[in-house]
Amino acid sequence: MQSSAHRVQEAAAFPMPRTAIHHVPIEGSTAQWIDRQVAGGISLRSASLTIHNGKSLVTDVSFDLAPGECMAVVGPNGAGKSSLLKLLSGRNCPSTGSVHLRGEAVHAMAPLDRARRIALVSQHAEPDRRLRVRDYVELGRVPHRGRVSWDASRAIVDDAVQRVGLRHLVDRQVGELSGGERQRAAIARALCQQPELLLLDEPTNHLDPRARADVLDLAHDLGCMVIAVLHDLDRISSFAHRVAVMAAGKLVACGPAAEALAPSIVQSVFNMDCFPVVNPATGRSIIVFDTPSK
Ligand SMILES: Nc1ncnc2c1ncn2[C@@H]1O[C@H](COP(=O)(O)OP(=O)(O)OP(=O)(O)O)[C@@H](O)[C@H]1O
Ligand SMILES: [Mg+2]
Repeated sequence: MQSSAHRVQEAAAFPMPRTAIHHVPIEGSTAQWIDRQVAGGISLRSASLTIHNGKSLVTDVSFDLAPGECMAVVGPNGAGKSSLLKLLSGRNCPSTGSVHLRGEAVHAMAPLDRARRIALVSQHAEPDRRLRVRDYVELGRVPHRGRVSWDASRAIVDDAVQRVGLRHLVDRQVGELSGGERQRAAIARALCQQPELLLLDEPTNHLDPRARADVLDLAHDLGCMVIAVLHDLDRISSFAHRVAVMAAGKLVACGPAAEALAPSIVQSVFNMDCFPVVNPATGRSIIVFDTPSK
């Protein structure tokens, strides 16, 4: 694991069109995939999502994630990151290929079973503004209703709001929260689901710098599989065991941050330079991202 003190300076907008994509080998042989399925991970094999007009939002994506691992999904706007999460969550069925959790196709799971096993915090969640924060967070317990005692469920909700720092706001209405507070409430609700796989679509937008770090540290330490779409590349190496880089619906790199975010890949996908510098105060290596000189 690398230092968490990475800093990023991202361009306000990505210039189009982009340069050619560098393809790097995707990890995992068929034998490893079978091993991981048995061990209880998530496996995508040549998963694609094509919509009615023939447009391909996700094309031929394959990767494995083992239990307890965290993955960051990065890529420019429109690269297909949210569409990938919809495949992983079972919200969309792959047009071709497969998405398996512990060997079970996620789109074929019974909805209640899937809700117990996979939680998705989507990019554009619009909760009922009149709900109290506690009641909103408690919705995450719905798939488990009748399976654990009311006291145990209440303790899980209390723990979730505590973890995201919203204990003091549990009686507020959701509509009265700031953007960052609402984001935290959505994460608390997902934590209450106690999923095997937690999917977070840009969980750190709206959050202040310390809250970003705290949310990713929290996700990293949960112990379940976490796949998070992130734009703030600075926190990635401290959060993710592996990074998936997407561009134009395709997976162009997948591996440890140092490999998947190699300068040549960052350059081709984001049209950004990146280089390491050392923080003189701590001695930690920091990766700086910058727009290329003209
Ligand atoms: N239902 C849809 N119908 C048609 N096109 C869609 C649909 N959903 C997404 N798209 C298109 O598919 C592409 C990928 O969208 P997606 O939301 O997955 O991108 P993204 O990587 O999450 O982008 P962002 O960083 O902006 O959130 C985009 O060009 C988008 O306009
Ligand atoms: Mg998105």
